[in-house]
Amino acid sequence: MSGHGTPIPMTSRKCGPLTGVADVPGDKSISHRSLILGAMAMGETRISGLLEGQDVLDTAKAMQAFGAEVDHLGAGEWAVRGVGVGGFAEPENVIDCGNAGTGVRLIMGAMATSPITATFTGDASLRKRPMGRVTDPLALFGAVAVGRKGGRLPMTIVGAAQPVPVRYVVPVPSAQVKSAVLLAGLNAPGKTVVIEKEATRDHTERMLAGFGAEVTVEQTDEGRVITLTGQPELQPQVITVPRDPSSAAFPVCAAIIVEGSDVLIPNIGLNPTRAGLFTTLREMGADLTYENERIEGGEPMADLRARFSAGLHGVEVPPERAASMIDEFPILSVVASFASGKTVMLGVKELRVKECDRIDAMVKGLRANGVTVDETEDTMTVHGMGRDVPGGGVAATFLDHRIAMSFMCLGMASVAPVSVDDAGPIVTSFPIFEPLMTRLGARLERVGA
Ligand code: S3P
Repeated sequence: MSGHGTPIPMTSRKCGPLTGVADVPGDKSISHRSLILGAMAMGETRISGLLEGQDVLDTAKAMQAFGAEVDHLGAGEWAVRGVGVGGFAEPENVIDCGNAGTGVRLIMGAMATSPITATFTGDASLRKRPMGRVTDPLALFGAVAVGRKGGRLPMTIVGAAQPVPVRYVVPVPSAQVKSAVLLAGLNAPGKTVVIEKEATRDHTERMLAGFGAEVTVEQTDEGRVITLTGQPELQPQVITVPRDPSSAAFPVCAAIIVEGSDVLIPNIGLNPTRAGLFTTLREMGADLTYENERIEGGEPMADLRARFSAGLHGVEVPPERAASMIDEFPILSVVASFASGKTVMLGVKELRVKECDRIDAMVKGLRANGVTVDETEDTMTVHGMGRDVPGGGVAATFLDHRIAMSFMCLGMASVAPVSVDDAGPIVTSFPIFEPLMTRLGARLERVGA
């Protein structure tokens, strides 16, 4: 969806205790990868628990445009009949990835080593985001990219007709860049090597191995070295998508700041490359426990139980933890507002190139609601107020779902209500946010509805 619809202003008011069970939707990262790898496998992949958020639906449509058959069988149930590695057809029309940076970057990687040309676009947020971080390494395979100034969408990629394997040190901590290179490496002969200095979410490596590719991961002095042997025949899979820890973050954090709350969030993956927020919350003194800890599909899982936590205190979040909670800093900054003392978030520069500049958006929105926040290019510091966060302001969400959800959580515990100018983007990752939070006890209201 490139055009964003009419804005949906929303207000969140101080509520009574949040209680009950929060069944959050499927993991966005794993959902995108399930569709893309399913389309690159030979035969039918079955997916259950797919996140049916707009970002992922846009990826499903894109896979159809590249020639895969994609069928929606029922709630969360999907079948993808793949065309095999190197089997992508040339799309007849422009690929619109809507709001999804993950979608567009992974798909660019997946098609860049096939002899086809595709043009990509997205909504106003995605058209501002840098694509050079992906097209630079794709050029090493032999792909050519032509986009707008600054490597912005719309952009055309001419896939390499005779791709060569690549050795690439990822210059920014980004799972999207790492994944784009690995997906491109699938159709290059020989071994493609990707090196990341800091570990980022590792779903692509794990899933590639699950689909039958030869992938090795080694920790060396250079960093994590991932080696993929090109041109495998990927085997179709039966995939159960785990629930999204980045979506779980919202009911978890809301329960922690709303007095009297006690919420159970079942079946959440605790892959260490994704679980940094939960570690941080516990360091801040949050009453967050892991129940029924287990290993499922090779991943650590637990039911999270979050209870209201009086006496939260600020902490310093070390830079080496940033990648494991990169999508959770907006909601952490909300929790930090209710803590005593400062919470200092270090090494968070990547927040500036998300769906919006998330440091700027949180600083502006928190200040509008009476919270003192400082920023540098690479850090954000929230001066916690203890219990009495004034609220009463309107935050701009800049087409960013996580900014919208974060401010709705702020309003659940602040003295005066908090509003956002547009809650519309929430559908990209957490389409049931409003009914789910309302069922737990939140008071959300669509303004003018
Ligand atoms: C994602 C990687 C992260 C994250 C995004 C999902 C992925 O982006 O912010 O929501 O699925 O690979 P970067 O790789 O740009 O850090």
